[in-house]
Amino acid sequence: MFDYDAILNSLLNPNLNKQQLAKLIGTQSTQFTSERTKLKNNYSDEDLISAYTSFYFPTNALKLEFLTQNLSDEQISAISKTHILDIGTGPGTYVFSASELFPDALSFTGIDESKLMLKQANKLNDEYFKNSKIGFSESLPLVDDAPRTIIFGNSINEMGMPAAFKIIKRYKPKFIICIEPGTKEVFKDLLALRKKLLLIDYKIQYPCMGQGSCPLQNMDDWCHQSIKTTLDYELESLSQVAKLDRKVMPATIHFYSFDEEATSTESSDKARLVRLKRNVKHAYLWEVCTSENKVITLEVPKKLFKKKMLKQLDGISSGLEVSYTVAKELENDTFRVKDIEIEID
Ligand SMILES: C[S@@+](CC[C@H](N)C(=O)[O-])C[C@H]1O[C@@H](n2cnc3c(N)ncnc32)[C@H](O)[C@@H]1O
Repeated sequence: MFDYDAILNSLLNPNLNKQQLAKLIGTQSTQFTSERTKLKNNYSDEDLISAYTSFYFPTNALKLEFLTQNLSDEQISAISKTHILDIGTGPGTYVFSASELFPDALSFTGIDESKLMLKQANKLNDEYFKNSKIGFSESLPLVDDAPRTIIFGNSINEMGMPAAFKIIKRYKPKFIICIEPGTKEVFKDLLALRKKLLLIDYKIQYPCMGQGSCPLQNMDDWCHQSIKTTLDYELESLSQVAKLDRKVMPATIHFYSFDEEATSTESSDKARLVRLKRNVKHAYLWEVCTSENKVITLEVPKKLFKKKMLKQLDGISSGLEVSYTVAKELENDTFRVKDIEIEID
């Protein structure tokens, strides 16, 4: 998506070598996953911010691209008529990503409480992106009637769901995009936010196919997306030195619109792929969530696909939409399908 060399040249400390970056990324990764009380340490000096920017910025940015691949042209055009506000922007991850994916949007503003992250974001814009519609700030804008899309990118997870909900209630954005870590804990938090948003007239447009309660809410299970990437050679090599895989990135991605903007995709034979449950000789068993918010299993015969397609389906990503026709109801909420459509790219 971005020119990786240009990013490396615009790091707050562009003199760190691959080994130094990988070591810092390793320390950060531990703090993100197991030492969460020390999270703020991750943003405490220019070297750590540079490491974050060299690794998480270009890879996280791809998650917004994944979401847009699952939105309709109408939804993309409606987002393009708003001001985009990225809260917890870090080095500008979703501001820069949005500026490429929604180039006609009215403006792009990144908000962050970390001065160093903002310094890094401004450096990237001054030296590489050079986009005058982009700005960064430590404080939220004045509340007014401007049409907005608010993006929370790995930040609800840090500020807490109640703080994010408070911001949403203040600004009443037309669209809300949450891109958070793909963990069970975060999923539960985002489900609580989903419940609150549906009560104040937001409609969930992705990944749920319907507006009912989530079938996983009282279960020890969670719904997330697995995003497959092809990385720049240097970035791939950095991920190998850091021993952190970014070829498949789990994420919890939710997209809402305020009710009048709803462009609902509800349909009885459409569903969202939750996971590939089993891959047996003659069929795939796909767990999907339907427009009635029910989790069912589709038995998809392999004979429905060409050989080349089967290779891709063996490593299919969660979060894609499928349209199908049922041939036969089997046991345990399992349905054999007679035809199926799925868009992989
Ligand atoms: C993990 S980083 C994510 C950066 C970027 N959005 C991304 O996904 O690559 C989380 C960012 O949220 C910021 N943050 C956390 N709590 C915040 C708050 N209450 N207000 C503003 N920014 C916050 C942190 O300073 C940090 O830069």
